[in-house]
Amino acid sequence: MAALRYAGLDDTDSEDELPPGWEQRTTKDGWVYYANHTEEKTQWEHPKTGKRKRIAGDLPYGWEQETDENGQVFFVDHINKRTTYLDPRLAFTVDDNPTKPTTRQRYDGSTTAMEILQGRDLSGKVVVVTGANSGIGFETAKSFALHGAHVILACRNMARASEAVSRILGEWHKAKVEAMTLDLALLRSVQHFAQAFKAKNVSLHVLVCNAAVFGLPWTLTKDGLETTFQVNHLGHFYLVQLLQDVLCRSAPARVVVVSSESHRFTDINDSSGKLDFSRLSPSKSDYWAMLAYNRSKLCNILFSNELHRRLSPRGVTSNAVHPGNMMYSALHRGWWVYTLLFTLARPFTKSMDLECRFDAYGDLHCPVLEAALFPKDFTCQFRQFLSL
Ligand SMILES: NC(=O)c1ccc[n+]([C@@H]2O[C@H](COP(=O)([O-])OP(=O)(O)OC[C@H]3O[C@@H](n4cnc5c(N)ncnc54)[C@H](OP(=O)(O)O)[C@@H]3O)[C@@H](O)[C@H]2O)c1
Repeated sequence: MAALRYAGLDDTDSEDELPPGWEQRTTKDGWVYYANHTEEKTQWEHPKTGKRKRIAGDLPYGWEQETDENGQVFFVDHINKRTTYLDPRLAFTVDDNPTKPTTRQRYDGSTTAMEILQGRDLSGKVVVVTGANSGIGFETAKSFALHGAHVILACRNMARASEAVSRILGEWHKAKVEAMTLDLALLRSVQHFAQAFKAKNVSLHVLVCNAAVFGLPWTLTKDGLETTFQVNHLGHFYLVQLLQDVLCRSAPARVVVVSSESHRFTDINDSSGKLDFSRLSPSKSDYWAMLAYNRSKLCNILFSNELHRRLSPRGVTSNAVHPGNMMYSALHRGWWVYTLLFTLARPFTKSMDLECRFDAYGDLHCPVLEAALFPKDFTCQFRQFLSL
């Protein structure tokens, strides 16, 4: 059973489940056959459905097929350093005579980011994740890198970024991962990052705007703006403007803006319904840390929606996502009270590597990776209630 689970084949609640004594195998050229150990016979047809199957695609990234001294084929997963005689592609078989596809839920609330990407080869894709040295950004960057993408960790602190790169390389020494300096609290640094990125002459298929601060005391950045607003929204806004041409050249490309449900608990309009600019970067006397965070997250969504409207005709989509509530990252470190609250909530919230969650309506969302990978007409849940 452990071997089945490892190869991604343990969700056997379907008609495909084999009777006792049967085993599913593959030929080198990708056909599935069935071995009956009781009667010591093999056949091409599934013993219950009578269907013939073949595997759909190559081995997952990081896997290799090898042959043992008895001539039996086995499979090595270099990333997780495991070996199995079960062909991992059996999780992705197709009928020889395909009938109408049936909808089947593949993920649930305990699905990890790594599981969502299982079987995908992202070689050739270039991904930038801001604030990727910790928390959600790190898990996202790692999952992309362990599936073949060239991942750039855009971080303000190079020591922490290099340590994150080493952690990823420790899991898969061939991962294509590097760190670059990006301080969103300094518009000059955003410019430098964009210049350095363009100098690499690579495409940009996925840009994950993830970095954020939360619960900070009031401070101004060197650019003269309130820090939460600049780091969480304006810095990313500027970054996307500077990289827009590369994104368009790399189409189909995606921007994923990591927002939050807490955007609901604020407003950026004044009493007459007009945008109140003083609320975006407030003075010290008008500042409340929680409100500043919520407003920056509302800006994330408004920005993402408008970006999608403008760039989707050119093959660049944008989605704002909510990753989950009070996940125990480093986000709360601005004030001990928030640390206490996050600690108390910890047993009831998602861990960093859990990518999926159920929303209040019971629908399943796999926010960051879903927005990054699914077809370009994919609609994020936020779009459904913000008619912008
Ligand atoms: N955790 C949750 O419950 C939750 C809920 C809803 C939404 N979110 C959103 O999820 C995203 C990720 O948060 P997280 O929970 O993973 O928090 P996190 O672990 O604190 O990650 C935030 C990242 O942003 C980076 N960052 C901060 N200031 C920066 C700057 N000036 N320039 C560049 N990078 C900067 C941090 O770098 P340093 O390590 O150098 O500080 C860190 O890598 C955020 O957008 C957050 O709003 C989180």
